[in-house]
Amino acid sequence: MKKRVTVPDVMAAKGVRKLSMLTAYDYPTALWVDRSGIDMILVGDSLAMVVLGQEDTLSVGMTEMLHHTRAVSIGAKRALVVGDMPFLSYQASVEQAVMNGGLFLKEGRSQAVKLEGGARVVPQVKAMVEAGIPVQGHLGLTPQSAAQFGGFKVQGKTAEAAKALIEDAQALAEAGCFSIVLEAIPSPIAAMITEAIPIPTIGIGAGPDCDGQVLVIHDVLGLYDRFTPRFVKKYAKLTDEIDKAITRYREEVESGAFPGPEHAFTIKEEEMDRLKQS
Ligand code: KIV
Repeated sequence: MKKRVTVPDVMAAKGVRKLSMLTAYDYPTALWVDRSGIDMILVGDSLAMVVLGQEDTLSVGMTEMLHHTRAVSIGAKRALVVGDMPFLSYQASVEQAVMNGGLFLKEGRSQAVKLEGGARVVPQVKAMVEAGIPVQGHLGLTPQSAAQFGGFKVQGKTAEAAKALIEDAQALAEAGCFSIVLEAIPSPIAAMITEAIPIPTIGIGAGPDCDGQVLVIHDVLGLYDRFTPRFVKKYAKLTDEIDKAITRYREEVESGAFPGPEHAFTIKEEEMDRLKQS
């Protein structure tokens, strides 16, 4: 078995090689992603949308996130597993952040956690790192704050907003984050942030100059059709295959073509005779 990717491995990759990250929400998906050699698996709160059918990420809590993180951690033997801290699990207080962050490691068995926000979550990041919980930051379009942004909108498009993002990234790096996800920001701003901080940036809709990239697995595999952001590249269209397979199954059940003799069990003839005589 290959050695697990560690937090120091991720930090050491900056400027040396590009980092890869994908989401997963269950055991079989974690097995596939892990087998592919991906560096990090994010058990994202996008779970709410792509697995649980919700409109946004706000409705999942610690119970759902720990349940899914545990399943992913069983499947992922090599990748670094990052548990995404859900809305209201860290915003209210530093104590709450440390307790919930710790639960991801203790019960979810992830190796790190991710939270959204810049300077306003610095006290939480410092306390978690102090408690031995590796933290990944998340800046730009942070979906838990979509209401504040007026929707899922690209961030950092004015000089002031871009400057604030750079300062937030520096504050998170100084607070002890081991990497930062940059979501939906102009590529030149992501490049400036990547240049300005000593820890890896992981982009999603942040252009090619980040230190790594992350996407949602359902987008990559073509398993989520409700909405496809511009930054997504679909590497497969699995819903087409799934639709075809399930329709064929239904048709074969209805026509009697399934199950065939190869799917059925037999009993010796003499046992059938004995049964009939009994
Ligand atoms: O929840 C999630 O999947 C995420 C990624 C989009 C980075 O936060």
